[in-house]
Amino acid sequence: MSSLFTQFKRLVGIDIRSDKYTYAKDPDFGYTATSRIPEKWVKTTCGYCSVGCGMLLGVKDNKAVAVRGNPDHPVNRGKLCPKGLSEHHILESPGRAKQPLLRKNGVLTPVSWDEALDTMVERLRDIQSRYGNESLGVVGTGQLLTEEFYTLGKLVQLGFRTRNHDGNTTLCMASAVSGYKLSFGSDGPPGSYADMEQADLILLIGANIADNHPILCHRVDRSPGTKPRKLIVVDPRVTKTAMMADLHLAIKPRGDIALINGIAHILIREGLIDRDYIALHTNGFEEFAAYVATFTPAHVASITGLTEAQITETALLYGRAKAAFIGWTMGVNHSTQGAVTVTAINNLALITGNIGRTGAAPFSITGQCNAMGTRESGFTSSLPGYRKFDNPQDREDLAHIWNIPVDRIPTARGLAYPDIIEAAVQGRVKALWFIATNPAVSFPNYKLVEQALQSVEFLVVQDGFHPTPTSDFAHLVLPAAIWGEKEGTYTNSERRVSKANPAVRPPGEARPDFDIFLDLAEKLGVRQELYPNWHTPHDAYQEWQRVSAGRMCDYSKFSWQQIDEANGIQWGGESLYRDGIFPTPDGRAKLHLVPCDPFIEQPDAEYDFILNTGRTVEHWHTRTKTAEVELLNDMVPNAWLEINPYDATRLELKPHDRVTVHSRRGAVADLELRITGIVAPGQVFMPFHFAETNSNIVTLGSFDPISREPNFKQCAVRIERTPMRDRRRASPQRSVRHRP
Ligand code: SF4
Ligand code: MOS
Repeated sequence: MSSLFTQFKRLVGIDIRSDKYTYAKDPDFGYTATSRIPEKWVKTTCGYCSVGCGMLLGVKDNKAVAVRGNPDHPVNRGKLCPKGLSEHHILESPGRAKQPLLRKNGVLTPVSWDEALDTMVERLRDIQSRYGNESLGVVGTGQLLTEEFYTLGKLVQLGFRTRNHDGNTTLCMASAVSGYKLSFGSDGPPGSYADMEQADLILLIGANIADNHPILCHRVDRSPGTKPRKLIVVDPRVTKTAMMADLHLAIKPRGDIALINGIAHILIREGLIDRDYIALHTNGFEEFAAYVATFTPAHVASITGLTEAQITETALLYGRAKAAFIGWTMGVNHSTQGAVTVTAINNLALITGNIGRTGAAPFSITGQCNAMGTRESGFTSSLPGYRKFDNPQDREDLAHIWNIPVDRIPTARGLAYPDIIEAAVQGRVKALWFIATNPAVSFPNYKLVEQALQSVEFLVVQDGFHPTPTSDFAHLVLPAAIWGEKEGTYTNSERRVSKANPAVRPPGEARPDFDIFLDLAEKLGVRQELYPNWHTPHDAYQEWQRVSAGRMCDYSKFSWQQIDEANGIQWGGESLYRDGIFPTPDGRAKLHLVPCDPFIEQPDAEYDFILNTGRTVEHWHTRTKTAEVELLNDMVPNAWLEINPYDATRLELKPHDRVTVHSRRGAVADLELRITGIVAPGQVFMPFHFAETNSNIVTLGSFDPISREPNFKQCAVRIERTPMRDRRRASPQRSVRHRP
C-alpha cells in the first residue's frame, strides 16, 4: 500500500509540472508531492528569451512552486523549454541579491536603501560636476520591463543628463536594428512566427533555434498535416537546427554575404524577381543588379565552400516559393559586418516581394525577453517610439508630451556600449551603472572590460543576483526584483506585447527596478517633473501609450488588461509594410550593395583554428540565473570545446581530454574536448555561458562600425592539451557564486 501511495504521489508530482527534480532530491517524497500543488496559478510571460512563451506560475504559501505552459497562449500553445519549466527555481535561489551593499574600506557592506541611493546620487553628482555630465555611462538591459526601460531612459537622459546610455542589446540585436533602418527607414521586425507555418520556404541564416529559441522549432515542423514546405539552414556547424533541415549549407565562417549576394545574382539571372514590387517600392535596383552580377555561383562557391549546385538549388527554392521567410540571429548579427549583412538579407526579400505578405518576411529573431521593448521605448539608439534624435519634429513632439523645453532633448545619441567601455578605459567616463547585465562575462575581450570596471571612480551594479563576476567589482550593489516579482510588459521577437505579472514578493530588501528609478528621481529632485503623480509601472505604461500613439509601435491601441486577456497583442499586426510603403523620405525601401570582406582575424600558423561561440538550450546567457537551477546545471555543468575528428587526430587529442584555447588576448584552460563532426575541420566551438571558462578572454574586441555590435563569432585560436597545473578541481562547479 505504502509503495502504491508513494508512486501515486510521485505521479501527481510529475504531472503537476514536469519538474521531477525536487523528487529525486527528496527520498521520502512526503514533502514535495503535496507541497508543490499550487494554491493558485498566476498568468505571466517567460522572462528568459524573446520567443515570449506564455506561462502559468504556481504559488503556494507565497512561494513559487511550479511553472507550466499556458495552453491558450498563441506563441507556445502550452509548451515550454527546460529553462522556462524550471524558472520558478531562480526566485528563491541562494544567489539572489537581498540587501544594498556599499563598499566601505574595500568591503561591500550592508546599508539601508536610503544610504545606498543618497550615496549613489551624491557620488554621481560629484563626478559629473568635476568631469561633466557625460562622464556617467549607463548600460541597461533587455531583461527590464518596457515600463522600466522607458522610466530609466527619462531618468538617465533628462535626470542625470548624460547621453551615454545604451543597452546590453547592443551585444545582440544592434545589427538587426541598424540593418532594418538602412533598408526600410525604421526598426521593426516585419514578420511573425505564423509566417514560418505559412511559408513555402524557410531559410534560417546563423540561427540555431533548437538551442536558442527552442519553442520556435514547432513552427518549422514539417510532419504530415502541416503545410508542405522546405527548411534550409545556413550555419558553419551541424547544429541541432541544421539536423532538422531539408538542406544544410555548412558555409565557411563569414561566407553569408557572398551566399546572399550569389542568391540575388541567380534570382535576377533566372527572372525570379518581382519587377512590379521593385519598381513601385524600392530604390537602387540597377546598381544592385550590376553589383551582384559578379557574384557568380563559381565565385560564391569559392568563398563559401559550398557547391554551385547547393547555391543554385537554394536560390531556385527561394525564388520559386510563393511565400519565402528568412529568419536570422547571432550568426548574422555578431559580426563586424552585421548591419550590412542584414541589409543583404533585406535585399533578397525586396527584389522578390517577399515582405508584407503572409508567410513572406525577412525576420530577426531577437534574444532577450524584452529586447524589443527596449528598442522601441528607446533613448539609446533612438528616441522613444522609434523617433530620431536628428529629427526636430520628433524632438518637438516629445518635449510637448513631456512638458519640457525642447533643448533638454539630445540631438544625437551618446556613446554605444563598446564606446562607453572604451571611454571608461581612457578615463573619459568616470562612473558606470550597469542594470541587470553582467559584462564581466558577456562583453568581448575580457581584459578591456576588466580595466574599465576597475578604473572608474564609482561603479553601480543593479541586479537580482549577487555576487556576479561584475558585481564583484562594484562600489554599490542595488538588489533588484526579477521576473515573477514585478509587473509590466515584455515585447517578443514578433512584436507581441505580453504581460508579466508578479506572483511572489522579492526576497529580503530587493525592490523592483521601477521603484529604484523613482526613488533616485526623488533624490535627484526631478521626480515631479519627469514622473508627475507616478506610483506604479502602470503610470509609466500610460505615458508610454501617449508617447507611442500614432508611431509604428503604437501601444495606445491596447491596455494592460487587454494584453493580459488576449495572451499578448502584436503591435503592427502580423506583417508590417503590407502596403509596400516604408518610413523613408520617399516611402521606398533601399537596396544596398554589400561587400563581403574577410573577417578580421584570419587563422595563421600560430593560431590555426577559427573559434565560433554560441549557446546551449539549458543555459541562459551568463548563467546568473541558470547557475542557480540544479536541474539545468546537472544537465550541462560546464563548458566544452568541439573539434573535428580530423583535427583531433592531427593534434593527437582524445575524447574528453582537457584542452586550453589560446588567442592573442588570453587563454581559457580546462575545457572538456568533444570530438565531433558538428564542426568542420579548422573550426572549433565553445559555449559562452560559463564564467569559469569565459570565452570572452579569447574573443576579439572588434565591433561593427555601424551597429557597434561585437564580432563574437570569429577569431583565431590555438588548441593545446591543458597542463595539470592549469586544471581546476575535478568536480564540476555548480555555480559561479559558490566558487572559492
Ligand atoms: Fe522561455 Fe524562450 Fe524557453 Fe519559451 S523558448 S520557455 S520564452 S526560454
Ligand atoms: Mo538581444 S539578447 O535581443 O538583446
